[in-house]
Amino acid sequence: MNILITGTSSGIGFGIALEFLKQGHKVYGISRRKNKGLEPYTNFEHLSIDLTNYPNVKKHVPRFISKVSTFDLVILNAGVLGEIRWATEQDVDAMKAVMEINVWANKVLLDVLFGAKKPISQVCGISSKASIRSTPGWGPYSMSKAGLNMLMDVYAKEFNETHFTAFAPGLVDSEIQEKIYRIKDTQHYPSAHRLQKARYTDDMPNAVKAAPMLIEGMQKALKYPSGSFVDVRDM
Ligand SMILES: NC(=O)c1ccc[n+]([C@@H]2O[C@H](COP(=O)([O-])OP(=O)(O)OC[C@H]3O[C@@H](n4cnc5c(N)ncnc54)[C@H](OP(=O)(O)O)[C@@H]3O)[C@@H](O)[C@H]2O)c1
Repeated sequence: MNILITGTSSGIGFGIALEFLKQGHKVYGISRRKNKGLEPYTNFEHLSIDLTNYPNVKKHVPRFISKVSTFDLVILNAGVLGEIRWATEQDVDAMKAVMEINVWANKVLLDVLFGAKKPISQVCGISSKASIRSTPGWGPYSMSKAGLNMLMDVYAKEFNETHFTAFAPGLVDSEIQEKIYRIKDTQHYPSAHRLQKARYTDDMPNAVKAAPMLIEGMQKALKYPSGSFVDVRDM
C-alpha cells in the first residue's frame, strides 16, 4: 500500500508509520522534526515541513508525492493539544493556533492531494472523544476536533470515491499525554486527573504497542458510513 501519514516524528504517527513500514508498505511521512527510528527503512519517505505554513505545503507536497499514482490510506494525524485552561481565560489567537493545525492544515493538505489528481481510497482524520464531549479546560482542543469531524463529513459528501472517517484512537502515551501528565491543578481539570491515573497502565499503551490495534480499527472503519466519527474503543 501507499500510505501518507502526518505527524510521524512522535507518538501515534510514529507508531503507525513504524508498523506499516515493518509490514513492507510504502509510507510518506510529514512532520517538522524527523524521527531516527524510521530512517533505516528504505520504504519510508519524509518531508520536514510545518503543515500550518500553507504556501509551503502547496509548494513542496506535490513534488514529495510526485512518484505516487494512488494512495490507499491517508492518515491526518498531526495535531496539538493547546493550552489546558478554561476557555474564558484563553486568548483567541492561541485558540485559533490550535484550529490551524488540527483543522485547517488538514483541509489544505487534502486539497493539495486531490488537486494533484491522486485517487485516495481512505482518509482517517485522527480525532478524539473530546470532539463529542467537552470537559473543563479542553475547549480549544474539543472545538478543533469537532471541526475535524465535520471536515471529514463534508469531504465525504464531496468525494464519493474516497472513504472518510474521524477516528478516535483511545488513550495512547505520547508527547501530548506528557503535557497532560504535568498539569498540577487537576481539581479544575478532572479529565487531566483521569488521564494521569491511566498513564503507565494498560489503559494507555505506548504508540508502538497500540499501532496494530489502531491499524485494525482503521480497516474496520471502512464498514461505517463515510464521514462517520468512530472510536476504536467502541468497534
Ligand atoms: N495520545 C492520545 O491519547 C490521543 C487521544 C486522542 C487523540 N489524539 C490525537 O492523535 C494525534 C497525534 O497525537 P499524539 O498523541 O501522538 O501526540 P504527539 O506525540 O505530540 O504527536 C503530534 C505529531 O503532530 C506533529 N505536528 C504538530 N504540529 C505540527 C505542524 N505544525 N506541522 C507538522 N506536524 C505537526 C508533530 O510533529 P512535529 O512536532 O515534528 O512537527 C508530531 O509528530 C493528534 O491529532 C491528537 O490530537 C491523541
